[in-house]
Amino acid sequence: MFPIVRPRRIRSNNVIRRMVRETTLSPDDLVYPMFIVEGKGVRKEISSMPTCFQESIDKAVENAKDIHSLGIPAVILFGIPEHKDAEGTGAYADDGIIQRAIAAIKDAVPELYVITDVCLCEYTDHGHCGVVSEGEILNDPTIQLLAREAVSHAKAGADMVAPSDMMDGRVTAIREELDNEGYPDMPIMSYAAKYASAFYGPFREAADCTPQFGDRRAYQMDPANRREAMKEVALDIEEGADIVMVKPALSYLDIISDVREQFDVPVAAYNVSGEFSLVKAAASMGWVDEDRIVMEILTSIKRAGADMILTYHAKDAARLLGG
Ligand code: PBG
Repeated sequence: MFPIVRPRRIRSNNVIRRMVRETTLSPDDLVYPMFIVEGKGVRKEISSMPTCFQESIDKAVENAKDIHSLGIPAVILFGIPEHKDAEGTGAYADDGIIQRAIAAIKDAVPELYVITDVCLCEYTDHGHCGVVSEGEILNDPTIQLLAREAVSHAKAGADMVAPSDMMDGRVTAIREELDNEGYPDMPIMSYAAKYASAFYGPFREAADCTPQFGDRRAYQMDPANRREAMKEVALDIEEGADIVMVKPALSYLDIISDVREQFDVPVAAYNVSGEFSLVKAAASMGWVDEDRIVMEILTSIKRAGADMILTYHAKDAARLLGG
């Protein structure tokens, strides 16, 4: 007890602070999300997400080289097709936007690890993550399409698939189809505990996937539920998920921490669009120090238990970390 114990002794300068630091961040922890559109030479800034772009494949390839040279190991790709329809056929077309993007990026930067978001919402005209009938989002027909989509990504050369739809049984369906089609080594990172969140607002502009009716509460989780997340994660691991994700990150640090405690698989956290936009907006007003806020946010997500962080701040963070 004071005056014998003085916690400040080990905070007195930067060297000792470095030595006793419990959580460290590295570019190795980061995954950068990219939005791919049709066309050539397109690089259109997303108005609600400054410094993030919708890019055509040629521009995405340039960006991928940059990302790789900053020491970021992986990207996650979202495709925005020109044509949308009720079944989201663009999601599993062999020559779809994302399939061509995967091939081009892997060709130009083979060491960059390419993860793909597996979902229908960017490809359906109604903007829901599944097949719709009479205003209902149908589970079982949807998971068949997701499995086809995952296989088409594998064929195009993706390194990992990440289903984000929150349909029941989709990890089983995807695992079986990947195995049947000759991709038994393709890992699955499931968006296991994904909440129905207002923090996805800016992403829906970025990926042009706002639901045309209703919302996603019949498949994404209720933000009020904590124990239910453990059930979702356990199911996905049983079904064969190699990595499980919690999403969003900041309002769900307790969930990240619980998953880290209760399961022995790598945990990913998605620092989503709305979390990014809040920081950008406040920083642009001069109300917060952006660099410090970004490092504090990412460190807190890691401290809560995440092994990897999907974040739109990845490039800035890698630069700040000296990448
Ligand atoms: C698609 C998907 C969404 C996000 C990732 N994949 C949107 C949603 O579920 O509505 C959100 C990512 C972000 O906000 O950054 N299902």
